[in-house]
Amino acid sequence: MKKALLTGVGAATPTRVLTNCDFEKMVDTSDDWIVTRTGIRERHVVENGMVGTDLALEASRQALREAELTPEKLDLILLGTVTPDFIVPSSACILQKKLDATRAAAMDVVAGCTGFIYGLATANAFVQSGMYANVLVIGVEVLSKLTDYKDRNTCVLFGDAAGAVVVQAAPADEKRGILSTFLAADGNLANLLHVPIGGAVQPLTPENFSQGGHYIKMAGNEVFKSAVREMGEAAVVALEKAGYSSDDLALLIPHQANIRIIEATAKRLGLPMEKVYVNIDKYGNTSSASVPLALWEARRVGKVKDGDLVLMVAFGAGFTWGSVLVRL
Ligand code: ACO
Repeated sequence: MKKALLTGVGAATPTRVLTNCDFEKMVDTSDDWIVTRTGIRERHVVENGMVGTDLALEASRQALREAELTPEKLDLILLGTVTPDFIVPSSACILQKKLDATRAAAMDVVAGCTGFIYGLATANAFVQSGMYANVLVIGVEVLSKLTDYKDRNTCVLFGDAAGAVVVQAAPADEKRGILSTFLAADGNLANLLHVPIGGAVQPLTPENFSQGGHYIKMAGNEVFKSAVREMGEAAVVALEKAGYSSDDLALLIPHQANIRIIEATAKRLGLPMEKVYVNIDKYGNTSSASVPLALWEARRVGKVKDGDLVLMVAFGAGFTWGSVLVRL
């Protein structure tokens, strides 16, 4: 069995920023409510005309540069997103063309906010088995395109971003690399967070479009409760599978959906908040992009370095949840 090493990390965020004060002018809300209930102060959103693969391209190029890998060496591109450029073809194929990664197979991973974790665990399996040596994993979202800016229950939460990592094969006795993964799902919870219109069940029509059926609908409080339960479970399982405890961790990188969910996950692990990476204040919930964006930022600000033990954990629509334990 090969070892899967993370050899490059990249991220991209659009330049346009929406602050809580901007939302005070759009819906019945307040900076105080948003900060207290979610931890969010601002989020980045794309300008008209920019799509997910534009952000993914920037993040991917950075990750490839750091890995000192040219795109034509890539064997596989796995792109986590719920906001693809098109329903067909996949964003992974569009990115493959933009990168000129001519040898790479390419597919989207649709697992809500767990898309990047699902992608990374899949990359690990392909690399461990010896089938592929060079895999690019991306989490990218332009949630602003699915957000109803008249619905205060959801509009304050979401932002746009991309994050990417290069995963490469190393000999089995390599100490660094991915140590364990855990993935789970429960389709019984599908209706708690969904976009009702635009799929085969209810195709888009002028009528249902005008009623806003193509926007994200969420039962926030129910989502909150399962998120606390599932993020905690995912965190514990990945550590146990690899024979580690939370004391061994240099950093926990949780999906950035709500500061209170992050704090509850840290509590479940008995981790002090100094060992938990938080950047939800700057970016809001960027779904699939949130974990790789946080990993990229944590390395950039020196919060983690090569050799450190890092646990990444996420939950999302589906419902899905999962975790990846890695020695950087
Ligand atoms: N400003 C002011 N009041 C608000 C706002 C707002 N932006 N949003 C909701 N409220 C109100 C509600 O209308 C409600 O008022 P009412 O009591 O008069 O009916 C009150 O605040 C309380 O509402 P709750 O939903 O109970 O508030 P809660 O404390 O649960 O916070 C929140 C809401 C922030 C959405 C929280 O439930 C949450 O973070 N849920 C998880 C969301 C999430 O993690 N999604 C991730 C998946 S995203 C993906 O996969 C794409």
